[in-house]
Amino acid sequence: MNFGEITEKRQSCRSYNSERCVEKEKLDRILEAARLAPSACNGQPYFITVCEGEAAKEVARATQGVGINKFATEAPVMLVISEMPYVATAALGAKLKNNDYRSIDIGIVAAYITAQATEEGLGSCILGWLDDEKIRKICAVDGKVRLVITLGYATDTDKLRIKKRKDIGELVKRVN
Ligand SMILES: Cc1cc2nc3c(=O)[nH]c(=O)nc-3n(C[C@H](O)[C@H](O)[C@H](O)COP(=O)(O)O)c2cc1C
Repeated sequence: MNFGEITEKRQSCRSYNSERCVEKEKLDRILEAARLAPSACNGQPYFITVCEGEAAKEVARATQGVGINKFATEAPVMLVISEMPYVATAALGAKLKNNDYRSIDIGIVAAYITAQATEEGLGSCILGWLDDEKIRKICAVDGKVRLVITLGYATDTDKLRIKKRKDIGELVKRVN
């Protein structure tokens, strides 16, 4: 799959086959893609906890509430992305330039993970609706939990959807 195909095919998967495990080699390649993601000052201010089995179910429950993210329980793997401290140069840059590089870096690593998952034929969904405190306890991590990513094989009902996006003219402006 080339990059264009990945961007077309990747979509938030909200229906997983809970009986089908994610192969270790696939998960390893996804984590390697995450490792290679760029970040401000190469600080890599994130940590990934791979949750499977009962831990995945517990994390899924901590992403649910008011009818949201019910599908997460069926995903065999949950990747928990927690925040790590800035390296000194990124901390200085963030302060001087009033920019939240950690959030940007975490968004990029999530994009790499979901792109590689698509390449591997897996479904994924980035979850930002989550209970930070509960997930920290489940994963025994100190850093604030910023995102959870569900991974697994999509069921047959998860058809490729037409992407609803802003028109390019609304999204982009060119200046000379
Ligand atoms: C930071 C972030 C948080 C998100 N949180 C959730 C979530 O909690 N639950 C959910 O079902 N989808 C969540 N999504 C998925 C978006 O709804 C989805 O990416 C968007 O609607 C575009 O659809 P697509 O991913 O299928 O192309 C999140 C996406 C991002 C980038």
